[in-house]
Amino acid sequence: MLNIIICGAPGCGKGTQSDLIVDKYKLTHLSTGDLLRKEIAKKSELGLEAESYISKGNLVPDKMIIDILSKAISEQTSVCKGIILDGFPRTVAQAEALETMMANLNKEITLLIDLKVDTQELIDRLLLRGKTSGRSDDNMETIKKRLEVYEQKTAPVSDFYKNKNKYAAVHGMGTIDEIFGRISTVLDSKK
Ligand code: AP5
Ligand code: MG
Repeated sequence: MLNIIICGAPGCGKGTQSDLIVDKYKLTHLSTGDLLRKEIAKKSELGLEAESYISKGNLVPDKMIIDILSKAISEQTSVCKGIILDGFPRTVAQAEALETMMANLNKEITLLIDLKVDTQELIDRLLLRGKTSGRSDDNMETIKKRLEVYEQKTAPVSDFYKNKNKYAAVHGMGTIDEIFGRISTVLDSKK
């Protein structure tokens, strides 16, 4: 069973590569950003609260996202071949909570894939997407904040998995297919 985390700065290609990984390896995609945007679209209480953080480029509180994700993981891991987590864990506290969730289900994380992309390329991709995405966080001011928050809060999650020998950095520049080829090489060595 492959249980993968795909991680990296805003715009590095987590969602894009997750779609390809899901197709090839038959994993279930759990994107915390997508789960939150669904709540925003429904205008639920949770969605309204989440939007106040997301539109400013801040992370939503750990407890909120851990509650959402633990429910989704426990529903999925019993019925699927494996999961790909996109956008979670984003803090060391979330990584610790994930370890506990997986242990309680008698499962474990196989690997964290860290997509490495130059900052200017990240900004260019997100500004381009912002022309059509309708996402409240795809604008220059919020992108800058998201990149700062990533460095402060999310980059340390890499060390957490490096210490467990469950870490692979992947060069995230180039065409979507080239990057997917690099990811496939890493995942094929873990099957
Ligand atoms: P989230 O939805 O996870 O956003 P993000 O991390 O900022 O990343 P994006 O979804 O913007 O980018 P991506 O890496 O998926 O890249 P994509 O494939 O789309 O989170 C949003 C917010 O929700 C957070 O800021 C936070 O507030 C909250 N949140 C979510 N999870 C949370 C958590 N665990 N804890 C707390 N808060 C949480 O690609 C980007 C663009 O580039 C696309 O247009 C794509 O077509 C294009 N592209 C992709 N690959 C290439 C390529 N190789 N060449 C050219 N263009 C490319
Ligand atoms: Mg995404």
